[in-house]
Amino acid sequence: MRVFVLGGTGSIGSPIVRELVKRGHEVWALARSDVSAAKLVEAGAAPVAGDMALPGQWSAKLPVVDAVIHAACDFNSEMGAIDARLLGVLLPSLAAQPNRPRFIYTGGGWLFGATGDDIGTEERPFCPLPAFAWMVPQLTRILRAPEVDGIVIHPAMVYASEGGVFRRFARDAVERDAVRIVESAEVRWPLVHGEDLANLYVLALERAPARSSYIGTAIEGLAVSRIARAFAKRFGTRRIEPETISADAIAAELGGWARGYALDQRLSGAKAQRELGWMPKHLDPVSEIARLP
Ligand SMILES: NC(=O)c1ccc[n+]([C@@H]2O[C@H](COP(=O)([O-])OP(=O)(O)OC[C@H]3O[C@@H](n4cnc5c(N)ncnc54)[C@H](OP(=O)(O)O)[C@@H]3O)[C@@H](O)[C@H]2O)c1
Repeated sequence: MRVFVLGGTGSIGSPIVRELVKRGHEVWALARSDVSAAKLVEAGAAPVAGDMALPGQWSAKLPVVDAVIHAACDFNSEMGAIDARLLGVLLPSLAAQPNRPRFIYTGGGWLFGATGDDIGTEERPFCPLPAFAWMVPQLTRILRAPEVDGIVIHPAMVYASEGGVFRRFARDAVERDAVRIVESAEVRWPLVHGEDLANLYVLALERAPARSSYIGTAIEGLAVSRIARAFAKRFGTRRIEPETISADAIAAELGGWARGYALDQRLSGAKAQRELGWMPKHLDPVSEIARLP
């Protein structure tokens, strides 16, 4: 397939680009800087120069594609307006393409709110983190769009060995006396390794029916305190027990979106496994952390 990726240098998008290239798909990807363009070329994709906030400058220049994967986000206070403007320009320009493209939109586990001991599925009503409430009308728009065959993936917390949502733990473990966690040691995160998630996106591209949604979770819910302790042990941090900080403190440091770190969640990836044959391989992040070089 010929695929256009937005966010192809991010935690979610870069493994997707690598997986698409590995499977023989032809990939174009939006690049807002020369640095991002160079990373995309290195990964085997063709960069399309442009900023997602200014879609009018590049959307008419897109090559003919079979699919679009949108995993770009600026995490600033304008992110909802930027995304709405993007779809407002991109969807009509895709409608002018000769074939009706598939369009995979990235939602997120944080749209389902805290689940406590329940295990959330795609049927669970949305209860979004306020900073990401704008995503619900956006993904609804994609699922109903006449211009494309829309599919939504809701990734769990995406990690790589020391990257993605683990980057903060790894940094604290070497720079501080203790690794910080938010709100409580009991908070659980649903998790997925970036490579497994990339595999799910590509399966969805190839097999998912139009207007379908999938939660991308490999590990239903792991206590953040276990992740923090694993990093502290691996890096010889002075205190093994994590330091608990408030959601207000992390929001002041990173922005309101970071309140999501305090959500106690369990989410299920069973639908993707059942319907798409998704088989995540990374199921034991604590052992992976212990084996870090
Ligand atoms: N990571 C997670 O655990 C997770 C979980 C669930 C949902 N999500 C959602 O997934 C989406 C992507 O998250 P992420 O963690 O992959 O983010 P990320 O690592 O920060 O990557 C963001 C990507 O978007 C690109 N980008 C940002 N602003 C842009 C702009 N103005 N024009 C063009 N490209 C731009 C970045 O390109 P540059 O190379 O230029 O920086 C980068 O490729 C977000 O909507 C997020 O809410 C993430």
